[in-house]
Amino acid sequence: MNKYKIAILAGDGIGPEIMVEGVKVLKVIEERNDVEFELVDAPFGAGAWFSHGSSFPEETKALVDVADAVVKGPIGLNHEESKKIPVDEQPERGALLPLRARLNTYANYRPVSLPKSLSHFSPLKAEVVGEGIDMIMVRELVGGLYFGEKESGINENGKRYVREALEYDEDQIRNILVKGFDLAQSRKKVLHNIHKSNVLKSSVLWNEILEEVAVDYPDVEVRHTLVDAAATALCLNPTQFDVMVMENMFGDILSDQGGGILGSLGLMPSACLGTNGKAYYEPSHGSAPDIAGQQVANPYSMIGSMAMMLEYSFGMVDEARNVWDAMQAVFADGFSTSDLSKPGSGVTMLSTSEFGDKVVERLKA
Ligand code: IPM
Ligand code: MG
Repeated sequence: MNKYKIAILAGDGIGPEIMVEGVKVLKVIEERNDVEFELVDAPFGAGAWFSHGSSFPEETKALVDVADAVVKGPIGLNHEESKKIPVDEQPERGALLPLRARLNTYANYRPVSLPKSLSHFSPLKAEVVGEGIDMIMVRELVGGLYFGEKESGINENGKRYVREALEYDEDQIRNILVKGFDLAQSRKKVLHNIHKSNVLKSSVLWNEILEEVAVDYPDVEVRHTLVDAAATALCLNPTQFDVMVMENMFGDILSDQGGGILGSLGLMPSACLGTNGKAYYEPSHGSAPDIAGQQVANPYSMIGSMAMMLEYSFGMVDEARNVWDAMQAVFADGFSTSDLSKPGSGVTMLSTSEFGDKVVERLKA
């Protein structure tokens, strides 16, 4: 029997309620497989700052260090509430980036996927969605602007100024490109390289390294796309994309656009993969404090993140597929969550927990 310790960091806002639904699904997987999940809750995020005086308390650090995998809900508060927390302790800077650095989760996989049967959720025309959208964005997650040197102060003209650096060394770039190529090789053998080499020197180095890495993947076709053009192409012709690879900030922005073309960020799970088997899994969206506690959030992204954990951390590829299929079947049956459809649009609206229950029912069927 395989035993896995999973750190559960429910987070802020809608985090706890969507986490409950993910855990329901994990229980089903546990019941019918030769596997045991030890789920350990730990404080993380803005709530942790108020209750423990730190948005990433020591006990949580100790737990993520020993856990076999970490699942994490969204963190953060609304703009006004955030201001009650010192800038560097705010959970994005004080907890999330340190978590990424601690586990060195340099490879962030963000699937942007909508089967044809769910194309009614997309704001794009049916002919644009065609046979369905199915791409995966590979985002570098521990470098670039997010982690570069930062300084601010008063300059020689007496003006407040700020400078933050977009920094990468060649190993960081090579590591993420290898992930992109590997994934492309295992799928359609096309890699979209997203860059801005007409302006940024970081992209020039990125592309230089790409040429070197590409030698090991003669069967993968590389298509170069400038990041701004990629944004347009995602709307006009999303089905041309399969695997896209990009630096941290580009990935932050384009993956939110990915959620937009699907119809909601609620459909955006992600896997954050590090070195030495370390990994954590999280929805790509925020904590939506405005709807927290109302049971209207869509737990798909959280449950999908758990599916990615089953696949990438525990090698349970078939069960991961079953989870995706179950979620998509629930939606294809004419159900929706409130992020995806307006009332009166001919679908039956499900609450957060009703969606989780339906997925469990499907999984067991
Ligand atoms: C994401 C989020 C985070 C990011 C925030 C919460 C710091 O937007 O995972 O995309 O910018 O990376
Ligand atoms: Mg983001």
